[in-house]
Amino acid sequence: MINVKMIRDQFPQVSETYTDNKPIYYLDSAATNLTHVNVVKALDTYYLKECANVHRGIHTLSEVSTDKFEHTRSLLHKFFNSAKREEIILTKGTTDSINLVARAWGDENIKEGDEILISHMEHHSNIVPWQMLCERTGAVLKVIPINDAGEIIYEKYLELLNPKTKMVSVVYVSNTLGTINPIAQMIDDAKKFDAVFMVDAAQATAHLAIDVQQLDCDFMALSAHKMFGPTGAGALYGKEKLLNEMPPLFGGGDMIDKVTFEKTTYNTIPHKFEAGTPSIASIIAWAPAIEFINETGLENIAQYEHELLTYATEKLSSIKELTIIGQAAKKTSVISFTLKGIHAHDIATLANQYQIAIRTGHHCTQPLLQRLNVAATARASFSIYNTKEEIDHLYNALIKIINMFS
Ligand code: ALA
Repeated sequence: MINVKMIRDQFPQVSETYTDNKPIYYLDSAATNLTHVNVVKALDTYYLKECANVHRGIHTLSEVSTDKFEHTRSLLHKFFNSAKREEIILTKGTTDSINLVARAWGDENIKEGDEILISHMEHHSNIVPWQMLCERTGAVLKVIPINDAGEIIYEKYLELLNPKTKMVSVVYVSNTLGTINPIAQMIDDAKKFDAVFMVDAAQATAHLAIDVQQLDCDFMALSAHKMFGPTGAGALYGKEKLLNEMPPLFGGGDMIDKVTFEKTTYNTIPHKFEAGTPSIASIIAWAPAIEFINETGLENIAQYEHELLTYATEKLSSIKELTIIGQAAKKTSVISFTLKGIHAHDIATLANQYQIAIRTGHHCTQPLLQRLNVAATARASFSIYNTKEEIDHLYNALIKIINMFS
């Protein structure tokens, strides 16, 4: 069971006031989750007391920073149950992680005529790196179609899989629609063709429990800021064997073993993929966010968010001018919608005047919106610190906006 008051106390932003001393109802967690108070405290501690580079010094502060930095890796290793902690590469975020794989794994393993399979609901960060790889190699990008509800058409997925499929990269949870894809089953089916499977888990990690060994995915990308952590940090999970076979992407400090002008040998994983000074503060401050999720319990989070989703879906569906875009049977707490005769940007602008923060536009999924025949949607997304009262505010604001236009 969730004690919402206690949760809200851990996210001070929800109690802040802004223009005219009014609060802001933050319904944009799919863009970024609010930051847990202990994350901010950890950032403070690092910058005010413990600032030092990692893996580079034997002085006390460097050791403290290195220990804390590596502690986050250990927490992620346990959180996602990777077989080894070295399988967790610390990156700048999901986009960084996907690009790392598309370059370092892709350039080594993909050749002309190979096929890379993605779905029609991918975020641009899980489209463009593969498109760029196809342009470099002559491989072909194939797209799994979706139905009008915003779900993968599974028979079509099975039809598209074939011995030429070398990589399948699919989003676990759609940022635009909230659809939860049947990733475990998709991985099983991809394995029948020996395809490598990458999961874009950016939108899933704060909502669903993920066990990478149970899933048997080969790679998984994620971001700290979607887990109540700071921006500028993320991770790539990769199977040890694949990571060992991949060449490094960036050359620089920390990723080397021995450097001479004639030849450089590389460090072991994970450091082979972590060239240069990383986002030390953000990685360190990610730890309390992971601990918060562990303490709260992903099942409790999912249950509470589902309650919010059900309440919001019922409430918003009662507005006859409103159409919910994306009605998958399995969804996280995201509602994309349009209002008849009102541009999505106008909805968000006017909602903002009622202190409601929602996102509008294509949500970095232009092909998805083209498929669903909408230029833009307004998107309300809910997290553990949101309340039914905030959803009522959204409802009341939408009624006022509709009346304004009629
Ligand atoms: N991918 C983030 C969103 O959906 C930024 O808004």
